[in-house]
Amino acid sequence: MDQPFSIPSLFCCPNCQASLTTDGESLVCEGQSSHRFSVTDGVIRFVDLPGAQSYTDHWRSYAGAAPQQQKLAQAKRFVQWLLKNVNADKPMVILDIGCGDGNHLPFLPANAVKIVLDYSHAIDVARTRHGHLPNIYFVQADALSLPIHSEKVDVVFSYGCINCVPDMDQAIAEVDRVTGPDSTIGLWGWGTQSALLANGLHLCRLLYRLIPAALKPFFVNALVPIVALTGNSSDITARNSSLAACREIVSTNLSPEKLHLFHRDTWTDFVPQHWKIQDTYDISCGQIFSREE
Ligand SMILES: C[S@@+](CC[C@H](N)C(=O)[O-])C[C@H]1O[C@@H](n2cnc3c(N)ncnc32)[C@H](O)[C@@H]1O
Ligand SMILES: [Zn+2]
Repeated sequence: MDQPFSIPSLFCCPNCQASLTTDGESLVCEGQSSHRFSVTDGVIRFVDLPGAQSYTDHWRSYAGAAPQQQKLAQAKRFVQWLLKNVNADKPMVILDIGCGDGNHLPFLPANAVKIVLDYSHAIDVARTRHGHLPNIYFVQADALSLPIHSEKVDVVFSYGCINCVPDMDQAIAEVDRVTGPDSTIGLWGWGTQSALLANGLHLCRLLYRLIPAALKPFFVNALVPIVALTGNSSDITARNSSLAACREIVSTNLSPEKLHLFHRDTWTDFVPQHWKIQDTYDISCGQIFSREE
């Protein structure tokens, strides 16, 4: 029989949701199409999407930089807030959707089974940095079709990912599917009350898409002073961080093909009614929900 937290018991085919079996170095689904997935460099690879390329480029160019202390401090703060009402003593499964380079991972409970997911090659950066952590699966997969059996996950969080997928409703429906009753769900996305900032970011993102690739680094540099002087939700400013760290913040907001910026709305406007709000984060748009049924 499969162990409760083994690959076959947790993961399924993202295409047809059939169970998986191992075949040498690969995973094969038991559905009619026998979809096959590789496991390389410690990562289970369910997708390699062209749409992930801009994020892959983003993470490759910043992978060499040291992890940013400000970002790690913010990640720790977010995880502590998320888990404050969760009984961390009991074995549980935690899913990080859109993990990036994995800033939140060091702060998750050691005894929890951690599924760490990103569709870009950020997952390789996360694996290199945090592969030593216990009970952890690194998964390259799409938030829009999670390779996880229904009702397997106790805690899901997504810090800055679900607000940048092409179909937020579908991503939320997938979170709903993989969680069970009494699960905890923490969602965070960048938001602002300022119409000037909101419209400014939309305009910059539009221009970034229109200019030739060769000009994009210059465009990022041109925006660095704004981040460096005004600060942001990662608490990265000219006073406490390097130029590379400021560039990374600009780039991460320009990279996603789509970005839902919370201005006059919150996550509550998008989630199912049986998700009951538990708490609201004090930076940008973050909310914790618990599933009632
Ligand atoms: C703004 S970054 C946040 C990274 C990380 N959570 C953090 O706090 O540093 C968003 C991440 O979501 C990933 N992502 C975007 N769309 C995705 C999708 N459809 N499926 C899986 N990951 C996705 C990107 O590759 C990127 O690493
Ligand atoms: Zn399949």
